[in-house]
Amino acid sequence: MERIIILDFGSQVTQVIGRRVRELNVYCEIYPFNKFPFTEDGKIPSDIKGLILSGSPFSVRDNNAPKVDLSLFIGKFPILGICYGAQYIAHTMGGCVEASQTREYGRAELTITEGKEIIFDSVPQCSQVWMSHGDTITALPKGAKLIASTPTVQNAAYKIEGNGIYALQFHPEVFHSTYGGVMLRNFIIEVCGCKGDWTTESFIETTVSDLKQKLGEEHVILGLSGGVDSTVAAVLLNKAIGKRLHCIFVDNGLLRKNEFEDVLEQYKGMGLNVVGVKAADRFLEALAGISDPEGKRKAIGRTFIEVFDTEAQKITNAKWLAQGTIYPDVIESSSVKGPSATIKSHHNVGGLPEKMNLKIVEPLRALFKDEVRRTGRALGIKRELISRHPFPGPGLGIRVLGEVTAEKLRILKEADHIFISQLRKYRTNLPPASNGFAENEDGDSDREAQISLYDAVWQAGTILLPVKSVGVMGDERTYEYTIALRAVVSNDGMTADWVHLPYDFLAAVSNQIINNVKGVNRVCYDISSKPPATIEWE
Ligand code: XMP
Repeated sequence: MERIIILDFGSQVTQVIGRRVRELNVYCEIYPFNKFPFTEDGKIPSDIKGLILSGSPFSVRDNNAPKVDLSLFIGKFPILGICYGAQYIAHTMGGCVEASQTREYGRAELTITEGKEIIFDSVPQCSQVWMSHGDTITALPKGAKLIASTPTVQNAAYKIEGNGIYALQFHPEVFHSTYGGVMLRNFIIEVCGCKGDWTTESFIETTVSDLKQKLGEEHVILGLSGGVDSTVAAVLLNKAIGKRLHCIFVDNGLLRKNEFEDVLEQYKGMGLNVVGVKAADRFLEALAGISDPEGKRKAIGRTFIEVFDTEAQKITNAKWLAQGTIYPDVIESSSVKGPSATIKSHHNVGGLPEKMNLKIVEPLRALFKDEVRRTGRALGIKRELISRHPFPGPGLGIRVLGEVTAEKLRILKEADHIFISQLRKYRTNLPPASNGFAENEDGDSDREAQISLYDAVWQAGTILLPVKSVGVMGDERTYEYTIALRAVVSNDGMTADWVHLPYDFLAAVSNQIINNVKGVNRVCYDISSKPPATIEWE
């Protein structure tokens, strides 16, 4: 096992560095700048092959700037400083960092100086990079050699001879740095000497064998949601312990039309030991009279725990609770900035483990979302399940605005079904969304092939607005509800952009909803981005 450690000084794009390293089939971990993973006796673990220092919103000159004692690491393995990381190395090793007149933000042309360095192997003499910094390195640290500049930033990249330190003022991890990926590859593979053998297959093999060892003959309970993470976690566990994995899939009545039945069938088809619990009425009862979004989330979360717990009690010999926690959740909960302000309480089943008194097993704890999908594909899970749009835990409960009733849910389910079915049917030349999996996975070399609108969209759904308006149908005046359509592209849900859905598509969906869903006489399309709006309306 070999790993790269990324110390996070609080940059917005630290996770992106992690993903880029993983794309090289090298395992890496992100830690807050002051939480380097020393061994218990304070030594440096021998499997660490290199260290990356991230960017930061701070200036190295701030009194409260994040600091780390680099002398602990220098000479132990190669170090790459990015942006703040590069400035921090300069600042602490005898160089000078000063405020520049203007904050440099955006594209810049990088020119490599004479005598090319290993980190610039296969990088052209001039290439585009992405800058985002306020301070400038005005003097290089002791023993450093300048290796690249831009027209406005003289010290854009340097190297300290002899101890494997490289520093880049720009962000190689972002897409706009055209050869940034090549530079990161050169650092990880050539400078650190990583083999790059951390593949999906090797992950599955080692995880299954670790799970076998950890769980032995014991029984495990897992809540399935129909989503990607819990499904992939279940299939991995099933491979390790078979029928000793007991899956519970709760129908809260807030899933999409037919979804509970369809997905339950698919789970059974995959050989999972699963029970479906129909509890829609209990959820509706719990939601009665509540119109505040957070109140609804809490009621749904509480009811879920009760229903799940009752079912889990029946599995008397279980010692473990499995969860589909993925790496971004792990990083978020140990973030430099501390837990970010709760805008919406997403982790609505947070109380579950404490209540159940079971040991926790999280087989996907080390993976990013795209790696979970790839693992799912390699495990033979159907594309339909793997490339699904994200769906919130409280489901349609937060898409019926205001109080949830059976009638409103009926209307919303019908409208949503039409919208999603049409998205699946309509073909487009738009690029695939990151969960789209339209990347010719079946060996089809026709890159121009059209994909479905569903695959071009990251997340879509309908919202039932709590207002009625006047319409006319035949000779009759109507006074009915409005449905809003929402379709966005996003990477991780933190930011999102509305999708420019074709007018003929929108027209067809609107007609079909108004003509077929009793109780709706108006359809709108939500054209707001996040921020300042959010993806869900509640
Ligand atoms: P927002 O609305 O915050 O949504 O822009 C970002 C992403 O999170 C999902 N979401 C939730 N997921 N429980 C969940 O499991 C929730 O309460 C919840 N609220 C929003 C949303 O669907 C989108 O993918």
